[in-house]
Amino acid sequence: MCGIVGYVGKRNCADVLVGSLRKLEYRGYDSAGIAVFENNKIKVEKCQGKLDNLVAKMERDGKPSGVCGIGHTRWATHGEPSDINSHPHGNKRLSIVHNGIIENYAKLKIFLEEQGYSFVSQTDTETVSKLLDYYYDGAPVDTIIRAISEVEGSYALGIIFRDFPDRIFAVRKDSPLIIGVGEGENFIASDVPAILNYTKNYYLLEQDEIAVISRDEVIIYDIHKEIVHKELQTADWDADAAEKGGYEHFMLKEIHEQPTAIKTTITPRINEGMPDFSECGLTDEILASYRNIYIVACGTAMHAGMVGKYVIEKLARTPVTVDMASEFRYRDPIVGEGDLVILISQSGETADTKEALNISKRKGAKTLALVNVKGSSIAREADMVMYTHAGPEISVASTKAFTVQISMMYMLAFKLAYAKGVITEEKCREYVSELLEVPALIEKYLSDKNEAQYAASRIMNAESLLYIGRGLDYALSMEGSLKLKEISYIHSEAYAAGELKHGPIALISDQTPVIAIATQSDVLEKTVSNIEEVKSRGAKVVLMCGENAQIGEGVADYVIRIPECDKLLMPIVAAVPLQLIAYYTAILRGNDVDQPRNLAKSVTVE
Ligand code: G6P
Repeated sequence: MCGIVGYVGKRNCADVLVGSLRKLEYRGYDSAGIAVFENNKIKVEKCQGKLDNLVAKMERDGKPSGVCGIGHTRWATHGEPSDINSHPHGNKRLSIVHNGIIENYAKLKIFLEEQGYSFVSQTDTETVSKLLDYYYDGAPVDTIIRAISEVEGSYALGIIFRDFPDRIFAVRKDSPLIIGVGEGENFIASDVPAILNYTKNYYLLEQDEIAVISRDEVIIYDIHKEIVHKELQTADWDADAAEKGGYEHFMLKEIHEQPTAIKTTITPRINEGMPDFSECGLTDEILASYRNIYIVACGTAMHAGMVGKYVIEKLARTPVTVDMASEFRYRDPIVGEGDLVILISQSGETADTKEALNISKRKGAKTLALVNVKGSSIAREADMVMYTHAGPEISVASTKAFTVQISMMYMLAFKLAYAKGVITEEKCREYVSELLEVPALIEKYLSDKNEAQYAASRIMNAESLLYIGRGLDYALSMEGSLKLKEISYIHSEAYAAGELKHGPIALISDQTPVIAIATQSDVLEKTVSNIEEVKSRGAKVVLMCGENAQIGEGVADYVIRIPECDKLLMPIVAAVPLQLIAYYTAILRGNDVDQPRNLAKSVTVE
């Protein structure tokens, strides 16, 4: 949430900052702004709304012409989206951009007001800019160290001081920040895609490290002002991976990338037909030794965990508890030695998931991170990490991250079931080879998207709808419902089909469509009975089932047939039409698919 960037080099800084911010807009788009040195003075351009507003403003006002500066794209926390609350914040002496939350900002504000400062915005960030100004004595690193020692909360800060027009300064705690290293130019950014057009090399800034960055040099200090030497990292991703590549939206592109993403994620973990997690030391013995498994995550990643729970419990007979990280962290969970806590996160930076990881470690459980972004905080801090290889996910609504996450859940379930002796080696191989067939089935489904488009046209005018399913279909219906509400803004809820009569059926009328997911043949008839119940109360029903499922004439108003595979694996394929239904519904309603209102990705604040 919130993206920060910085550039120092020889190019037009405003252009670089805008280009880099464009790659970080998924982190928020309530406002955008830049501060650039022009004739040794700090020139600030900022305004409410998406980056395009800033670009238009600079076309009108003239964009700054310097080669050194910082930029920001905002997801509002303190203070409404407005010009005045936009970053950068500062004065003639310094300017800052911030990602995170300053928790003691109210206290700091009182102190600074007593010192004669007056505030113009409602942001927490403004207190940091004024605190830096208060301590500034001509020595930026000392000033930063003094200021951050008084700041509580999370921050990634990009700072420029008027006295140092050829340098940017950066510091972070609990919010991500990288330093891109180019030839005669250097960068700061909240995430790798922002620098990929210029360089693949970067340093990861650790907690409370301070970086001083000029065009030819990056010096990193720790909080005691000792120089820190770091290993240069290289990004695996190409610049193209963060472009739309001819698709109208990132979301559609990412939906299409799923077959490749799944293959790239699972293939390196298959050794002679068996799942192999030796990359993180997860041997059969260790895997089989865990008493309980907890899966902790947020949003779509949590839904991947729900699918994981059903599959692991079914195959491996090990109890799995799935928790939203925001609940887990405050409910004193009963985890401890002998338990495995799996943290699932696309970004690897989600604040609640990160804290859930810390709590699990403190309580003595082993932690395994399933993360997409290399070198992210969760990946670095967990005892074990397995990367999903989905490539950068830019669309705020997550798609490919979900299907790679659930693919890995299956791999874990197969291996655990085998390690515990619940399934034979032969059966385990069979499952793995079935899983390898799934990408081709998704490709097949993606070759004709008419069904999903038609289903979208049937629900686009609804004010509210229900997703129902049983077992794995219920787990998946949660994700289908989330996807729809995120980007179409239609209210929807997911319900276990058998629970309908215990309340939600009261919502059913001819104005409440129902999307029924019925890929699990063992409960198909039960779900069909529930469909009959809602139909007889007027609901229009879209049914998703396997292409060979026996469905009576007229059971549903519209049937979406999904290519068949082992029923256990059907959720991976069925996720795709659900994503497409959400996508086309949002398009039909004229919404901004990639940047839905109020949302952002990489939720680095609680
Ligand atoms: C936000 C995003 C979701 C994502 C969730 C968890 O809500 O909009 O797409 O599933 O955060 O993010 P993570 O990066 O931890 O997977």
